[in-house]
Amino acid sequence: MKNALLALPILILVLSCTSGSPPPAADTSAVATPSIPDSEVGLAPGSAFDQPPQAPITFNSVDPGESELRPRPNDEFPPVIPHSIVDLETITLSENSCLECHDAAVAMDMGAVAVPASHRVDLRRSADVTGDEVVGSRWVCTSCHVAQTESTELVANRTP
Ligand code: HEC
Ligand code: HEC
Repeated sequence: MKNALLALPILILVLSCTSGSPPPAADTSAVATPSIPDSEVGLAPGSAFDQPPQAPITFNSVDPGESELRPRPNDEFPPVIPHSIVDLETITLSENSCLECHDAAVAMDMGAVAVPASHRVDLRRSADVTGDEVVGSRWVCTSCHVAQTESTELVANRTP
């Protein structure tokens, strides 16, 4: 009898949880929804949904050996690539077309600037050792050395 008395309130509780309609949705009308105009979402002028036309980009087509070195802001700056790399940019784990001309062993014959000694130093593991090979962190040349294009500025450059 004692068990039966205990079971009744539990049964009522279970039934009230599992039957009937879902609980009413929370009333959100009291929460103020901020209204930000499309034109003020980002820094770009105009609506965030505008898709400005992309001006065509012309890649530098001057062959290696025919271009002229570009000035550098300082010695620590990776020089930009003065020549075309359209057909040269094969850089895989085992192949690096840039080194076919820039490797120190061949650079002089190719009339190219040799990869400097700094590129053979593994700064993270052995900063005092200058090895024989270009280290992994310098392998993907184009992550630092930038090819040149003729293109209009997306945003005006105010640097004097
Ligand atoms: C066919 C040979 C050749 C290949 C391949 C080549 N280069 Fe060059 N590179 C040159 C020559 C030669 C120069 C010197 C400028 C000239 O005579 O055009 C030069 C100049 C440069 C310079 C300027 C160096 C400075 O001191 O200002 C950079 C940077 C450079 N190349 C990077 C690259 C990268 C990155 C690649 C691969 C995507 C590459 N080059 C592939 C021949 C080559
Ligand atoms: C992590 C960035 C980085 C990567 C990757 C890198 N370089 Fe450089 N490179 C530099 C910087 C910075 C300089 C200028 C300072 C110096 O000489 O160490 C430079 C200088 C050079 C120079 C000019 C040397 C001179 O004597 O004036 C050449 C040529 C060059 N790099 C070629 C390459 C080639 C080819 C690769 C790919 C195998 C490569 N770099 C990868 C950052 C990089």
